[in-house]
Amino acid sequence: MISDRDFFIRDLDDDMPLNKLFNDGKDLYIEIGSGKGEFISQYPQKHPNWNFIGFELSEKRIINCLKKLSPEDNPNVRLVKRAIDDTIDQLFEKASVNGVFIQHPDPWPKRRHHRRRLFQTAFLDSLAKILKPKAKVQIATDHKDYALWIVDIFSNHKEFVSLQDTPIQNDYNLEDHVVTWFEQEQRRLGFEPNFMLYERI
Ligand SMILES: C[S@@+](CC[C@H](N)C(=O)[O-])C[C@H]1O[C@@H](n2cnc3c(N)ncnc32)[C@H](O)[C@@H]1O
Repeated sequence: MISDRDFFIRDLDDDMPLNKLFNDGKDLYIEIGSGKGEFISQYPQKHPNWNFIGFELSEKRIINCLKKLSPEDNPNVRLVKRAIDDTIDQLFEKASVNGVFIQHPDPWPKRRHHRRRLFQTAFLDSLAKILKPKAKVQIATDHKDYALWIVDIFSNHKEFVSLQDTPIQNDYNLEDHVVTWFEQEQRRLGFEPNFMLYERI
């Protein structure tokens, strides 16, 4: 009998490009930094006709995610244990991903650590290669400085455009928003999320 871990987590080498994790032709969405698994366990249930891959680098967090997932309730979800960076284009077929969700990426607040931030021009270059035209990138961070950094990186990139009147909004105006553990914690501490929404041109 296949265990839940074997159902959700697959050997990267056998399944490259990762599009092969599903063979039903449904649209593919990804989440980067699945954390304790609120988004990856809840959102795909609202969209059974889409497939989802959640990336998470921490084994502890992968276990948290697995506790919230079951093959019966989440047949359209897979998890990949990996630190995502500007080589994400090596993981997927070109122009094959329909959208990306990134809620509360690590902000690396110290200036000397800024180069560790996920959002860099090279990351957007790589992401642009795997996204389909009109694919959306949905981002939330409670860290204002990181939000401004993200807006700066996107506004200097010719393959993405903001879909919001102002690039940072504090009210989430999309349906189906999943409040993650981190959003809940930060709100409790008085830090409102900053929401950003971009489209691949
Ligand atoms: C601040 S937590 C937010 C988790 C979750 N998205 C939430 O909103 O509650 C950031 C998560 O991203 C993971 N992470 C950080 N950098 C990553 C990377 N480059 N690729 C994949 N996961 C990453 C961390 O292990 C952590 O679980």
